[in-house]
Amino acid sequence: MTAVVATRGALADALADSRAAGRRRAVVMTMGALHAGHLSLVMAARELADEVIVTVFVNPLQFGQGEDLDRYPRDLSSDVALLTTAGADLVFAPTLTEMYDGDPVVTVHAGRIGEILEGAARPGHFDGVLTVVLKLLHLTAPDVAVFGQKDAQQLMAVRRMVADLDVPVLVVGAPIVRDDDGLALSSRNAYLGPDERVAARALPAAVRAAVLAAAEGSSAAQVRGAALDLLEATEGVEVDYVALVDVETADALPGGHRGPALLAMAARVGATRLIDNAVLDIAPEEER
Ligand code: PAJ
Repeated sequence: MTAVVATRGALADALADSRAAGRRRAVVMTMGALHAGHLSLVMAARELADEVIVTVFVNPLQFGQGEDLDRYPRDLSSDVALLTTAGADLVFAPTLTEMYDGDPVVTVHAGRIGEILEGAARPGHFDGVLTVVLKLLHLTAPDVAVFGQKDAQQLMAVRRMVADLDVPVLVVGAPIVRDDDGLALSSRNAYLGPDERVAARALPAAVRAAVLAAAEGSSAAQVRGAALDLLEATEGVEVDYVALVDVETADALPGGHRGPALLAMAARVGATRLIDNAVLDIAPEEER
């Protein structure tokens, strides 16, 4: 079984030997309820480092009023069993009070990237994410940190923080892992009823429609339209946004944009909010 530590002191003790031995360390941060998407990050991290630390902590700072903090699935022993199979070396699973001694006074502000797309729908979410990510980077002191492309805006925000605040870590993105029906794996998929699960397939279908449109040489506006039309035509799916944005800043791109772009979308299926995305290349005019 992979060793589990719950306190800063035990974590520091566990890390001291590896630091002395000059071992390269990677961290994968999670909120638990682990699935194959999380485990793929652990595998990617193993390729990049000598040892892999996985953090498991449901961070209240990143949940808004009325979100699912209280019912977020928690099962540490099954998470540790999965992490053992995936080859993690150490799990840091702190309690709430271990991480936050009361409400923090000083926090990280995500800036503009925290106010658009997911940030517009979830005010304060990215401030909460970046605050806990920075704390966990300090506590685990890794050489590499691996984050999933599934949460593309989160990955962008972390990269931005690391660059802007000179955090000495290499941030690596890992591809989205999907279920057989195309739906991106997410702990929140467990909330979907059978009919909702079928409706939710519209998200990956919309991503595929956009990828296809881009491959066929469609304009940025048409690519976005292809995804939006598909989502809007699906009963039981309520679109929050479908956006074609800059891959580094998440700022909206004009309808005539060419070159790389992130197609990001969010939709509500019943009470569950789902996201999906893909990086596309909008071909230049002459290639069309
Ligand atoms: P969580 O939702 O548990 O996700 C942990 C990591 O797994 C993130 O980097 C996320 O992008 C990645 N991930 C989730 N589903 C994935 C999938 N289907 N394919 C590939 N990667 C996937 O993201 C968070 O937790 C939190 O915000 C956290 C960074 C831990 C800070 O609290």
